[in-house]
Amino acid sequence: MALDRNPVPNDLSAFWMPFTANRQFKKAPRMFVGAKDMYYTTSDGRQVLDGTAGLWCCNAGHCRPKITEAIQKQAAELDYAPAFQMGHPKAFELASALRDMAPEGMDHVFFTNSGSESVETALKIAIAYHRARGEGARTRLIGRERGYHGVNFGGISVGGIVTNRKVFGSLLTGVDHLPHTHLPEQNAFTRGQPEHGAHLADDLERIVALHGAETIAAVIVEPMAGSTGVLLPPKGYLERLREICTKHGILLIFDEVITGFGRLGSAFAADHFGVMPDMMTTAKGLTNGVIPMGAVLATGAIHDAFMNGPEHLIELFHGYTYSGNPIASAAGLATLETYREEGLFENAAALAPYWEDALHSLKGLPHVIDIRNMGLIGAVELSPIAGEPTKRAFTAFLNAYEKGLLIRTTGDIIAMSPPLMIDKPQIDELFGKLTDVLKALD
Ligand SMILES: Cc1ncc(COP(=O)(O)O)c(C=O)c1O
Repeated sequence: MALDRNPVPNDLSAFWMPFTANRQFKKAPRMFVGAKDMYYTTSDGRQVLDGTAGLWCCNAGHCRPKITEAIQKQAAELDYAPAFQMGHPKAFELASALRDMAPEGMDHVFFTNSGSESVETALKIAIAYHRARGEGARTRLIGRERGYHGVNFGGISVGGIVTNRKVFGSLLTGVDHLPHTHLPEQNAFTRGQPEHGAHLADDLERIVALHGAETIAAVIVEPMAGSTGVLLPPKGYLERLREICTKHGILLIFDEVITGFGRLGSAFAADHFGVMPDMMTTAKGLTNGVIPMGAVLATGAIHDAFMNGPEHLIELFHGYTYSGNPIASAAGLATLETYREEGLFENAAALAPYWEDALHSLKGLPHVIDIRNMGLIGAVELSPIAGEPTKRAFTAFLNAYEKGLLIRTTGDIIAMSPPLMIDKPQIDELFGKLTDVLKALD
């Protein structure tokens, strides 16, 4: 397809861009006009290596034929079907495919349109589940410092990113936070899971002692915290959290919006770490980022607790106009097939050691104070410029873009999570460019 390589920008003022420095962007816009496999094409005709799978979501790479065709076909066949009290085949097929891909026991799927909605859905199901079982006092929710669970009120309440919370009022009541697991003094430059920090899960016992287990509905954590800069769970941490939740009848929710669909080299982080939660929230890689869709996976025990009372009554008063939308479902099915047919999770697992070596070769470059990795995910933490936090990493982001590499930054941390179809020469290209960027930083 011929691309318009130099479109005259429309008026940029109307679009209030999300999580963006709007004024900076509009002075020097960065526009993508095309994408194929591992590369974006910019409006000035340059190729940019996608080091972040879009926003941690295009795990199969860009404009993959199977997904494109599935969307086109579905749009022409059945564009929309009501999500409430009506069905269409593809939503059921996708739910079954997800169940089959998920860890044993994750038997039921509730569709949403985003990671944020998956989080709200899981939190609501947790509270309603306890009530359905006659434990209606269990309403407290426990998140973790530096956790990211999207941007809706439930998600920012259990989330632990200060800037996402502090200007939005009093948030949900009845929320506590575990301490984060980032211990750079002990764990800096660890390859894979760090040794120190399993004991931080014990803080849950303190919260239980404070409030009483009978008031706590659920704990939600990212098995690996992505958005605050790739914070890996210390060895034994998730196991300990699982143990304490089970002991006190508290549901454990893994937010797998980033870690789901092969990012760590396994289908889900739950598989990777061998720790089974009670619910998993997903989105992003579910449809390869192409069409908005999320899903909450829940155990049979949770689902079945709702399946009582007269059969003509709705069991859970929750859902979205677009839950299981036909086109999103078709995109999801084609995406899961693409992952399977191309062995993309296996590719991620096979390339992980090469990725790790390449990433850790950046140690010793200017301002690099920590490097973290797992699967096809990596972070380089930079020392901040005194008095100007985030500026050094943001400069790296801008310079990388100029050199033809898309990275992502959060605070002064550079995060990378390429499509899982990446190969060794592209890993070399990515870290070659990043090395040049880091060497040139003030
Ligand atoms: C762990 C986690 N949860 C939830 C979300 C929110 O997803 P969305 O932006 O699709 O609402 C994200 C997005 O990055 C995420 O990383």
